[in-house]
Amino acid sequence: MQTRYFRGEKLIDRDNEINFFLDWFRSLPKLILWVYGPKSSGKTTLIEYVVEKELFEDFENLKPKGNWWVKYINLRRYLISNYSSFIEAILTPEKDDKGKKEEKLSASFNIGVFNIKAELLNEVKNKEKDLFKVLMEEIQNRTKKNRQPIIIIDEIQTLEDIYINGDRELLKEFLNFCVSLTKETHLSHVVILSSNTVFIDRIYNDAKLKKTSKFFKVDHLDKSIVVEWLSSEGYTEEEINLIYDYLGGCIPDIQRMMFEKKEFKTLKEYLEHRAFLAYTEIMHFLNFSGKIDKEERKLFYDVCREIVNKGYFEPDNDKYRTVIEKFAEVEILFYDPLDLKVKGNSRIYEKGMERLEL
Ligand SMILES: Nc1ncnc2c1ncn2[C@@H]1O[C@H](COP(=O)(O)OP(=O)(O)OP(=O)(O)O)[C@@H](O)[C@H]1O
Ligand SMILES: [Mg+2]
Repeated sequence: MQTRYFRGEKLIDRDNEINFFLDWFRSLPKLILWVYGPKSSGKTTLIEYVVEKELFEDFENLKPKGNWWVKYINLRRYLISNYSSFIEAILTPEKDDKGKKEEKLSASFNIGVFNIKAELLNEVKNKEKDLFKVLMEEIQNRTKKNRQPIIIIDEIQTLEDIYINGDRELLKEFLNFCVSLTKETHLSHVVILSSNTVFIDRIYNDAKLKKTSKFFKVDHLDKSIVVEWLSSEGYTEEEINLIYDYLGGCIPDIQRMMFEKKEFKTLKEYLEHRAFLAYTEIMHFLNFSGKIDKEERKLFYDVCREIVNKGYFEPDNDKYRTVIEKFAEVEILFYDPLDLKVKGNSRIYEKGMERLEL
């Protein structure tokens, strides 16, 4: 595990993932790269690290490493409720530097927008020009200057249910555009992240997208990395085994433990408290959300029993789909569409499941 720092804090591991991305970006764009994984596994942190520290020589001054040309848009940071707000989020008008002094915008703002001529922007807004044609031209202009574009979009599921004109779905058109950038023209890398496992499942099972995509999972840390990390923080072997049993490799859960454990008499007491909170969260959704009927409750218990006994549940029957989706939506379960295994979204939920009367 190499020691890296990011935004003033230690970045835990991710050696393999960082190398994977760099190798990917050095090859010819052929497929859309989908990055998925359980909630809070560290997808956004990882990609932001790669962008700011590996693709830029000097991020604050937007000086790229080599010939990369990077656009990174995190849709969670915008309120996107319709097509116009999407355009507002990703396009900004070029400033004509006559007139008022240009204000200096932050690197993170600049990297998240396509800068186009004001006139063109108005035409896109008025739907006289197609957004994706304009973006394609912008990208072609960069490749003509020997730059290698990389487009990264986080929280893509935000674009679901948004329409361009009555019947044109924004997400569909956007994904067609991504296929054309990668598989068809090889002009740009496209990386798409989502924390929504139900959404990823839908994409994975779309025949056309499956053929044009690569899926890359960013999971919680492996035990060996947790051991390395916590040993370096002074934890004993016994403590580390206990922590791993309750929190697995979930980075924010472990970070939180470091802050909160002093409020409890013992480490074990703290971990038990966390397991109890996970248990009450599960019970609350089961009993008070109004979303789970009697039959689904029974099916959920089947799922939990397998997870507790075997470490995962493999649905052999479609009758489990709905209840798994419901618990995945509230981030209690994580469903991997590639290996078809269902687990707790993080280890602590599995400790919560142990408390159910299974
Ligand atoms: N490698 C890491 N080293 C240190 N801290 C990390 C690392 N990865 C993630 N974190 C911390 O864990 C938290 C969750 O990470 P992040 O938001 O990147 O996860 P995510 O997978 O994008 O979550 P979501 O599913 O909500 O999109 C953040 O507060 C971040 O600081
Ligand atoms: Mg994220």
